[in-house]
Amino acid sequence: MKSHERLLLENRAWAEETRQRDPGYFERLAADQRPKILWIGCSDSRVPADIIVNAEPGEIFAHRNIANQVVATDFNCLSVVQYAVQVLKVEHVIVCGHYNCGGVKASLDRQRPELSLLNKWLMHLKDIYRMHRDEVDRLESMTERTNRLVELNVIEQVRRLSHMSIIQTAWKNEQSPMLHGWVYALDDGILQQLVTLPAGSDVDVIYQEAESAI
Ligand code: CO
Repeated sequence: MKSHERLLLENRAWAEETRQRDPGYFERLAADQRPKILWIGCSDSRVPADIIVNAEPGEIFAHRNIANQVVATDFNCLSVVQYAVQVLKVEHVIVCGHYNCGGVKASLDRQRPELSLLNKWLMHLKDIYRMHRDEVDRLESMTERTNRLVELNVIEQVRRLSHMSIIQTAWKNEQSPMLHGWVYALDDGILQQLVTLPAGSDVDVIYQEAESAI
């Protein structure tokens, strides 16, 4: 059986089992979503948000891209954040990276000419490496350097969220959401917390909105 056919078959079995266990399940879920969590994670197939935290459908609103980046000109990510914060009013935004991330590892190497688009996406990671080059280069192995940059990347992405007017306005008006940076270890399945920014945390003045227009 082809891999996509297996998915369709598994879907039928899952829907049937779920309906048998809880006959009203899909009707309830179809009516509304009230997730308290926005998850910004890596596209890596080994880090499926819902599964690693044992969450049910309806609990986590998610955006995933290569190396879990929050880029200020990425309308895809920004739209997800705006909808999650302003409409769904999530209480927590979690940026979750993972050790041995292929995107982070690639950013420590030269650009690959055949991956012209991906090279540009990885530029943001190269910038973070450049900002912390002394610290990262002190580490001996490629694995250690990659994994430290994975952590620095998560911390930087949480900070970038706090630079967004969407977040600053929500912090002022709703005292929410709380921002979190987590990292996942592929070899034992454990999440660690790296950074937490509660509503109202300090934001560098150059990223703050001016009080009023002149
Ligand atoms: Co990754």
